[in-house]
Amino acid sequence: MAVVKADGYGHGAETVSRAAILGGADNLGVATLQEGIELRIAGLDCEILVLGNLINIEELRACLHWGLIPTLSSFREALMCEKLAEASGRNFNVQMKFDTGMTRLGCDLKDAFSLINSIENLNHVSLKGVYSHLALADGDSQDDYSSVTALQQKRFDDFLAEISQSKLELCCHLANSAGTLLDSRLHYDMVRVGLALYGYSPISNHHDSLILKPALELKARVTLIRDVPSGVGVSYGHFFTTKRRSRLAVLGIGYADGVNRALSGKISALFQSRLIPQIGAITMDQMILDITEHPDVEVGSVVTLLGTDGPKTITAQDWSDVSGSIPWEVLCSFKHRLPRLVI
Ligand SMILES: Cc1ncc(COP(=O)(O)O)c(C=O)c1O
Repeated sequence: MAVVKADGYGHGAETVSRAAILGGADNLGVATLQEGIELRIAGLDCEILVLGNLINIEELRACLHWGLIPTLSSFREALMCEKLAEASGRNFNVQMKFDTGMTRLGCDLKDAFSLINSIENLNHVSLKGVYSHLALADGDSQDDYSSVTALQQKRFDDFLAEISQSKLELCCHLANSAGTLLDSRLHYDMVRVGLALYGYSPISNHHDSLILKPALELKARVTLIRDVPSGVGVSYGHFFTTKRRSRLAVLGIGYADGVNRALSGKISALFQSRLIPQIGAITMDQMILDITEHPDVEVGSVVTLLGTDGPKTITAQDWSDVSGSIPWEVLCSFKHRLPRLVI
């Protein structure tokens, strides 16, 4: 499964979905009903699992209408599905989630067996899969990873053993990117890959033959160049004051595009393989570079904020490291108004 929620982790859900399907994925994972509907409208006709909880009958009706698979965590939702399916004369395919240690969505482990039996007894609802979610998505230390994940895996295995007599043909799945990369025993019938699909490893000390390369580059254009004297405050709050006569370049990108304000003064842009410091507060629609030592930069020059230029690369991991974030958050912050160029 290619996990394409949050607009394909900021890359554009339709683009990523098509690329993932061409690359061999046969399932897509979205968080919300709307995300699933948008993919159907775009013409994607593969299995789409809604990973979030749908709580009311209207949402489930839309799910049935668009052929999306809801995740059930309780019998209450299963009964609504039964009612809708019966009324429409259609079968409702669903998956069930149970909690093995993430303590978020999914039914309690102790209720999982009876829930599966109850769903099995419904006439118009077909249970197609059971899954759970790992609590550790970014293993800094494989030791930590193993102890928590091993317990979740044991609970998952015990549950599968308990339902092994059932005649249902279930797709069983547990692994996120970290689980997929770390241990093939976590793969079961399907893996749900998010971050790694976009070219980032969730495990900082993971050395594998698999080389991941970020799929996304972020570029911005210089919209204005200013020559200013020493001692002037730059941008909101004057957090930066020039210490010399300076040449500044304004870039037409800001936090409303997804470049978090917490990165202010902590990032650089690449131009002709050289790093140019960003200075002052990042504002809603612009940010400023100090190009005093980079006379080649002109109005219209395109700089790289994330990506590779010559031998140098700036990644979402670099941004996360300086802003206390994680690559997942950096990537899915990019907003719709930022044009995507698909290469
Ligand atoms: C249920 C579920 N499965 C899989 C994923 C993919 O996780 P990752 O991006 O770490 O691969 C997510 C993402 O949060 C998720 O919520």
